[in-house]
Amino acid sequence: MNQPAVDIVVLISGNGSNLQAIIDHLDQSDTSARIVRVISNRPNAYGLQRAQAAGIATDVIDHQAYAERAAFDQALADRLEALNPTIIVLAGFMRILSAAFVERFRGQLINIHPSLLPAYRGRDTHARVLAAGDQQHGCSVHYVTPDLDAGPVIAQAMLTVQPSEDAEQLANRVQALEHQLYPAVISWMTAGRVALHDDQVLFDRVVQPSPRRLSMD
Ligand code: GAR
Repeated sequence: MNQPAVDIVVLISGNGSNLQAIIDHLDQSDTSARIVRVISNRPNAYGLQRAQAAGIATDVIDHQAYAERAAFDQALADRLEALNPTIIVLAGFMRILSAAFVERFRGQLINIHPSLLPAYRGRDTHARVLAAGDQQHGCSVHYVTPDLDAGPVIAQAMLTVQPSEDAEQLANRVQALEHQLYPAVISWMTAGRVALHDDQVLFDRVVQPSPRRLSMD
């Protein structure tokens, strides 16, 4: 393998099923990319156990220990700078990051969001999709920019909403897509195929006019 090592840090807040999908994918791939640290802002996040079971070092930076958002962001930024990762993966990391933080790591920070962005930024995406009667739904991986859930979208996976399903069923099906989409995007990134330039996504050095689409049903 001639590729230089690509160090990844994954930020989580909870279950970590996307983290697990990324761990499993890297384990099965012929890649020099590795997760060097999993950081949670919640001490009891189940994803920490997933990381430990995979032999990955973990840190907890408990946001409740910081009186102000800026102080938490500073602590997180300091930890990240010490680790010096190539890619910072937000995988169910449920903290809004300050503009200063995001600018510091611009081009390195990616997030997965359970909607076809720009539709349904924010929370409760599945219930809102059902309430609107949308037929298409899915998930997006995007670069993180200061505006919440508004950064350039790298790729999306979509599904057709079934008339009979409720928000929980839809959430489960979207999560299954997430577990395929996030590893796919991370493979492109670790291979150096994806970059952010002037708020546009480059794929193989060419501006990508719209998100790549993975259709799975
Ligand atoms: C995922 O479904 C992800 O899309 C969502 O949190 C879940 C985390 O699940 N993220 C957001 O809503 C961010 N705006 P996981 O901890 O099992 O990976």
